[in-house]
Amino acid sequence: EAIAFGLDAPYAVEYHDRLPSTNDRARELAVDGATDRVVVAGEQTGGRGRLDRPWSSPSGGVYASLLCRPERPPAHVPVFTLAAAVAVTRACREAGVDAVIKWPNDVLVAGSERKLAGVLTEMEGEADRVSWLIVGIGANVDVDTTDLPETATSVRAEGGNADRRRFCQRIVETFHEYRTDPEATLPAWREHAVTLGRAVRVETPGGVVEGEAVDVEFPGALVVRTADGDRVVHAGDCEHLRPA
Ligand code: BTN
Repeated sequence: EAIAFGLDAPYAVEYHDRLPSTNDRARELAVDGATDRVVVAGEQTGGRGRLDRPWSSPSGGVYASLLCRPERPPAHVPVFTLAAAVAVTRACREAGVDAVIKWPNDVLVAGSERKLAGVLTEMEGEADRVSWLIVGIGANVDVDTTDLPETATSVRAEGGNADRRRFCQRIVETFHEYRTDPEATLPAWREHAVTLGRAVRVETPGGVVEGEAVDVEFPGALVVRTADGDRVVHAGDCEHLRPA
């Protein structure tokens, strides 16, 4: 099935059967001055994940990068990553898969905790204002698990509706909804999160933070109740989060 599936979106959509990385393509568009675009690819040959990890991007997945220029300071950018995680989680649930968010932006199957999707956000900005923002979403939708890492799964493998067009459509719609009202993201995120209320151990460049994850606060930091009081961990500083 061709990837040019005619999304109905408030953004101009560019479709590619195959790209090195939709985030890289969106960056080219950003540098050329474009905004309000979505770049979709049927597969990626150089998909990138967080923390310089590769992102396996076999055919059948949804690889989409949303380019926009929110009138916000760079410090608010994490909320858009959370919005994307909410968007993917909702799309998974509508497809019949019980998905949950692991802070900051992993979308997992409830229970087995196998990964369905991830979000890679990139931006350029001045001190007080974002110049451009790219939110890249990779979701294993109509993918065979033999094409994925051990810890991953797909909507199809979990018995869900693997219609990529519908999935991508819902991601773009939900992202747009929260993009225009970023403060509304946190309540939705809390509803879908699996991290809150759990004992966690977060590895950061400044050391390990261990305690109970009690909340997420704007624009997306995790509040961890440790023996020495509450610590706020920023998403960009999370190298690894696991149950304590
Ligand atoms: C992660 O969990 O590490 C984030 C994965 C993000 C992958 C997506 S796929 C579309 C976009 N293009 C990329 O190269 N990466 C993101």
